[in-house]
Amino acid sequence: MNIYIVMILSLLVVFLFIVFFFLKSSSNKQSTLKTSNRRKTEESKAYLNTWQPTDSGTSHKKDREVEVISFIEKERYSPERPITKEDAALIDIIRQNPELPTGIVQLSQILKDPEARIKKIVKIISTYPILSAKILRVVNSPAYSPHKKITSVQHAVVILGFNNLWLLVNQLLATIAVQNFSELSNEEMKRLWRHGAAAATCAKHILLQLDMNTSDISPTVYTCSLLHDVGKFLLRGLGNKDVETTDDSPCKNPSVIGEDNFYGIDHCRLAYLITTYWDLPEILCTTISYHHHPSFSNWEDIPQHARVPTILVSLSDMLANLSGYYDMTPCTLDMHPMAIRYLGLDKNWDINNLLTNELYQDLKETEKLIEAATSV
Ligand SMILES: [Fe+2]
Ligand SMILES: [Fe+2]
Repeated sequence: MNIYIVMILSLLVVFLFIVFFFLKSSSNKQSTLKTSNRRKTEESKAYLNTWQPTDSGTSHKKDREVEVISFIEKERYSPERPITKEDAALIDIIRQNPELPTGIVQLSQILKDPEARIKKIVKIISTYPILSAKILRVVNSPAYSPHKKITSVQHAVVILGFNNLWLLVNQLLATIAVQNFSELSNEEMKRLWRHGAAAATCAKHILLQLDMNTSDISPTVYTCSLLHDVGKFLLRGLGNKDVETTDDSPCKNPSVIGEDNFYGIDHCRLAYLITTYWDLPEILCTTISYHHHPSFSNWEDIPQHARVPTILVSLSDMLANLSGYYDMTPCTLDMHPMAIRYLGLDKNWDINNLLTNELYQDLKETEKLIEAATSV
């Protein structure tokens, strides 16, 4: 009997020891986590102190036409918030339009396979009869003025090169899906595509500079840079089109902020509604919908798996604006320095260093392509 009592007591002591060690190690983990979070916050503050922010909502001009406006101390609401009654009316409008051709997602995928790119792009083109005719009209247009009439897509590939052909096919397919969103004039349509295509070209230069041009996320960055302002195609049809030009100082209400005031919704939220209706892969929906978040204090609200591509798309947008390929007004939002740092870049990294002759040359080519594509 006594032996049983001793055994039970021993087991009890062992059990109490286990509980004690478990609680101690868990409290150590928590305190390590708290210390690491505190260190992270202190590190962020120290980093921001070494950086010279402009006041929120103010702008600074740096010997160039495009104003850089800082909102890095302001918060931005999530484009993924629950659907409201007003949103339901917009979703109805979106549903009356054609769905996004699946070719857009296939085009993003083929970027991962440099070996078979041309073969695959020709295959995609052949599944959309309207595309072949459009592409041939573009390469035979005065912008390209070939010596001999181009009669095959294969020949058009040689004239345009893979990058331009990829951009053109994407743009033509996306136009099918957005052209009925609103009655945009040809000029407005052209301006929006000019900006989107310029952002895709800028993405190429940024990814090359960061040595990320062959990374897994590069197809997402290219596709989202081209389509990042897709919400504007619908937004411009909602009424007041002078959102960015009514003020004496056009940059006082940059697009996302001004749109809220005039329409009660911004193009990021609309992009969320449109891209989820199109059933695009989740990473594309998130990246496009959050593309202005890296300019606000709560940039870390960007879902973690999409943060790097979203920051890169935001940089591509900014570079397109800085190089003069802005949408309506000569202004651009500054990037939160911690978002830049998230890419592994330090505070001395300057986006202006990317404004090279090569970039301007590439942008001119892109402009020629979009001009031809939206005119034929
Ligand atoms: Fe935008
Ligand atoms: Fe943009």
